[in-house]
Amino acid sequence: MKIVNVAGARPNFIKIAPLLEAFTATAGIEPMLVHTGQHYGERMSDLFFHQLGIPEPDVNLEVGSASHAVQTAEIMKAFEPVLLEHAADAVLVVGDVNSTIACGLVAVKLGVKLIHVEAGLRSFDRTMPEEINRVLTDTVSDLLFCTEQSGVENLINEGIAEEKIFLVGNVMIDTLLKSRELAAGSTILDDLALRQGEYVVLTLHRPSNVDDPAVLARLFDALEVIQDDVPIVFPIHPRTRNNLEGSSLARRVAKLGKLQLIDPVGYLDFLKLMSSAKAMLTDSGGIQEETTILGIPCLTLRQNTERPITAKIGSNRVVGTDTEKIIEAWRDIQAGRWQTPRTPELWDGQAAKRIARIIAGG
Ligand code: UD1
Ligand code: UDP
Repeated sequence: MKIVNVAGARPNFIKIAPLLEAFTATAGIEPMLVHTGQHYGERMSDLFFHQLGIPEPDVNLEVGSASHAVQTAEIMKAFEPVLLEHAADAVLVVGDVNSTIACGLVAVKLGVKLIHVEAGLRSFDRTMPEEINRVLTDTVSDLLFCTEQSGVENLINEGIAEEKIFLVGNVMIDTLLKSRELAAGSTILDDLALRQGEYVVLTLHRPSNVDDPAVLARLFDALEVIQDDVPIVFPIHPRTRNNLEGSSLARRVAKLGKLQLIDPVGYLDFLKLMSSAKAMLTDSGGIQEETTILGIPCLTLRQNTERPITAKIGSNRVVGTDTEKIIEAWRDIQAGRWQTPRTPELWDGQAAKRIARIIAGG
C-alpha cells in the first residue's frame, strides 16, 4: 500500500515523524513524504527535519506564504500532478492547517483514499481557519484517527460512520516521549540565562490574538504584570513578528525588560524550555497537549479549546484574553492552586504504531 504523507507547517512535522517511522517498519506499507512548503526556512521547517530524523521529502511543493485562498489553491494545483504521477493508494494528512484540507481535497477528487490523523477536534468556533479545515477534512476522510474521546463523539454527532473512526492516542506525544532524553541535553537555559522553574514561556500566533492590536495590547498588559514576577521568554512566530513590526506595540514590547524576544527555536530546545518552565502561556493547539504530559501549568490565551481533555484532566486552563483573568490564573499558579494532571487515555507513545497496524490490517 503506497501512502503519500503530507506535512506543511511546524506542528505537522512533529506529527508526521513517528508516522513515517512506523510506516517504514510495517510490512505492506510504502510511505512517501510530500512537504507543501507552507512553512519554510531553518527555524520553521529545516530544524525539525534534522532534529526529528524526518527523511528528506520525496517532493517539496514550495508553495510558501499567501492568503488563505491563494495558498490553498497553490497547494492543490501543485499536489494534483504529484499524486497522479505516484499512483498512491492513500493520502494521509495531519492536523488542521491549510495544507491538510488542500491535499485532502485533491485526494478525494482523484478517488484516492484519505486518512486524517488528529480527526474530530472541535472548538465550535467557525471564525477559526483551523475549525473550517478540520470540519471539511473530516467530512471527506475515509479513515479518521482521534487523539481523544471528544473527537470520536464529535464525528459521530456529525454523522460520520463509526467504523471509519479509531481512538488511537496522540502522535505529537509519541514524538515528545521519544525526544525527552535528547532534549534534556539542550543548552538553551544557559544560552538564555534562565533558571530551572523560574521563568515562563510565551507563544502567540492565533490570528484572533495577533492580528488584532486591541487584543494584543490586553495580552501585553497582563505580561507586563507577570514579568515583574519572573522572566518571560518569547520565541516569536513569524506571523506575530510581522504584525508587531508594523505596530505601535513594538516600542512597548521593547520596554518590557524581563521579556526576552527570540526567534522560534527548534523542537529539542523548545521541549527543554517547556519542561523546565514554571508555566506556559500560549494560544497554540499542540502546546496544550505537550504541557499536560510534561505536568507544566498551561494558560491558554483563547476563548475556547478544541482539545478539552487537556483542561478536563490535564494541566491546561483556558483563560481567554482578558487581562485580569490572565493575572488571576497566574496568581493561582504561583500559589500552587493548579490541577495535578493525569495522562489522557492512550497518550503513551504508541499512537503511530496503532495507526500503522490498523492501516495495514484494513
Ligand atoms: C499556520 C496554521 C495554523 C497553525 C500554525 C502553526 C493555517 C490556516 N494556519 O498558521 O493553524 O497553528 O501554522 O505554526 O494553516 N511565515 C514566515 N515563515 C514561515 C511561515 C510563515 O515568515 O515559514 C509568515 C508569513 O508572513 C505568513 C505568515 O507567517 O504570511 C503566516 O503563515 P501561515 O502559514 O499562512 O499561517 P500561520 O499563522 O503560520
Ligand atoms: N514549537 C517549537 N518551537 C517553537 C514553538 C513551538 O518547536 O519556537 C513546537 C511545539 O513544541 C509544538 C509545536 O511546535 O510541538 C506547536 O506548533 P504551533 O504552536 O506553531 O502550532 P499549533 O499546535 O498551534 O497548530
